[in-house]
Parts: sequence; C-alpha cells; structure tokens
Amino acid sequence: MFTNQHYLRHLLRPEHYTSESHYRAELDHLFLPAWHPLATLGDLARPGDFLTFDLLETPILLRNFDGELRAFLNVCPHRHSKLTEKQRGNSPRLRCQYHGWEYHQDGGTGKIPDARAFRPWDRENSCLRRFRVETCGDLVFVNLSDTGVTLREWIGPLWELWQSYGGSFRHAATWEQDFPCNWKVVLENSLESYHIPQVHPKTFKDFSPEDISWHELDEKFTSYKTIPPNDFASRAQAWIARRLGHPVTNEYWHRNLHPHTTGASLDTVRMMQCVFPTGPTTCRYRAIFFTLRGQRRSPFAWVLSRILRSIATSVAKQIFAEDATIYQGVQKGMAASPHTGVIGTREERIYVFQKYVLDKCRVRRELPIVEATHDR
Ligand code: FES
Ligand SMILES: [Fe+2]
Repeated sequence: MFTNQHYLRHLLRPEHYTSESHYRAELDHLFLPAWHPLATLGDLARPGDFLTFDLLETPILLRNFDGELRAFLNVCPHRHSKLTEKQRGNSPRLRCQYHGWEYHQDGGTGKIPDARAFRPWDRENSCLRRFRVETCGDLVFVNLSDTGVTLREWIGPLWELWQSYGGSFRHAATWEQDFPCNWKVVLENSLESYHIPQVHPKTFKDFSPEDISWHELDEKFTSYKTIPPNDFASRAQAWIARRLGHPVTNEYWHRNLHPHTTGASLDTVRMMQCVFPTGPTTCRYRAIFFTLRGQRRSPFAWVLSRILRSIATSVAKQIFAEDATIYQGVQKGMAASPHTGVIGTREERIYVFQKYVLDKCRVRRELPIVEATHDR
C-alpha cells in the first residue's frame, strides 16, 4: 500500500534541474558529506591495484597498498600533474607520471629523483591530499570530506542489508554511462514504477498493483518492495536460488539512501547504483552488479551461477538501456516547462526525495508543502 492516498506537489521547480547555483548548492550540501560507492574489493584485490575516477569535479585515485585501501586526490604536489591518466592498472609504486615523485600509503613522499634540487625539503606541502575510504560488504566507499559521519553511520539502518553485497553474492559487472540530464532526472526515474508500462513494455511489462506494493518513507531513505508476477522469469529465478542453496522470498526490493545511492535486490541478484552530477545538466550513472554465488560447491552449482551471471547481467543492462532512452527528453522538457508538475501516489518516494533536497540545500519553498490534498 502507498502511504499517501492523494497526489502530492512537485516540490522542485524546473530551474532546480538546470541552474548552476542550485547545482553548486547540491555539491556542497548533498554530495560533499556523502559516502560514494565506487568499487568492489575484487577491483583492488592485489597490492598495487589502482582505479581512478572523476568524482564531483575531483580526480580520485583509489589504490591497494599491501592490503590497505587508500584514496588520494589524483594530483601531484610537485607541479600539479595528474599522477596517472589510466582508469585502472597495477604498479609496484605510486609514482607520478611526470617527473617520477613517489608516494607512500600515508600520502607522504618516497623517492624523489634528484632530491637535492629541492633542499630544504617542504614536507608540509609535498603530501598527497587524502580522502576517507571505508567498506561495507564487498563495496568500497569514498568520502570527499575530512569530517562527518562514518560509513556505518551514513548507511544506518541499511547497513546489514548492504553487507550482503559480497559473501554469497559475487561481483558480476560494473558499468557506467554519462547522460545529458540533471542527476535528479535519473534518480527520480528510479524511484517510481509508474513509467514501467511505457518504458519497459518487454522487460518489466507492467507495474505491480498497489495491494502488493509497499513504500517505506524515511528521512534518510525510501524503499519499495513488491512481489514480481509469478511468470517464467520469477519461477526460473526461484528454481536457481534453491539449487544454489539460497532462501527464496520472491521479493523485489529497491532502497534509495539519500541523496544518490540505490540498492536493488531479487533473490538471485544485488545491484548498487549511484548517480553523480557532472554539471547542472549532465550526470554519470554507475552500476555495480552482483549475482548469487551459491552456498553449494559442485560443478553443477558453478555452471548454474555462471549462466545466472550472464543472463542476469544482460537483462539488467537491457533495463538500464530502456531507462536511458527517456532522460534527454525529460531534461529538454525541464528547460522549457511552464508547469509546476505533480506527483502521483505511486511516485510518492519522489516527494520525499525532493523534500530532502530542498531541506538540505536550505532552499526556501515557493509553495507550502501539502502532504495530501486535492487543492492544486
Ligand atoms: S608533477 Fe608530479 S613529479 Fe612533477
Ligand atoms: Fe525504469
């Protein structure tokens, strides 16, 4: 059942999806305090493995130092070069690509070519800028702020659930794509099932009736649970879960931890999705996808888990591609819209999300918030 029984106001105005000043406010108030899922432990399994990202206008280097994960600004204190332009790799030492300065895991300098040329040594201004790194299950999170809550505090009530990313679920694939739309267009699309018949007629086909749809609306997160139809795909999934020794619930869960991190799950898959603003009207979507590994160790279970990984990843990417067809049209509409917009009860999670955005950005609302009303 939905929490609201009447439509809700669309709290955000089209300019909140286009303006530079609101984008800057969101970076400061929503994204700097946030923890961002960027990788899996498997991505950085060996000493010397590294990944780089452009995260919120900040170049990041994530690296395994003898088993310890560290995140640094990917900028060298010598003369500002990026330490590396590679997206991933393995190197025995963290060494700048330009003049070869080397760095230890605390960010301090190691070997400096022709070090005598830099006497007296300015230790304070020669360290890499470091960021906080923490893990939940197999997921590696980075935070760009030196202060603020721990990852566990940030994830809060979803901590136990998100620890299952890993364990009996194996990392199957990671993919990302840039879109010509504000990040909230992508996120809000994920918060409602109303678009399913129109955008996913062949994959999801239709949204669930209200009597088997449950919304949880919390200040920190919203969630949606439903029981997918008892069709061939659901029965096949239940069969695979049983064969791999995993309990069968037949439930689909979708949980969005404000502002931008979403965990979705079925009995055989887990998906962690994140959408990052890259400008007022552009964003980058990133999905880290897991499939059931299975408790049973047998050649049959191994083959089954491989087939599951292949088919489930392909279906997830297909759904992702279907959603991707709509984003640019929504953004173009935003830029020209004279309307205030309206949110239906099936979309009520969007209302909670928009309220969160406005509250955190301390934006004065032009309209009073009305939880449920016929008065437009
Ligand atoms: S800019 Fe990095 S060593 Fe010179
Ligand atoms: Fe969708």
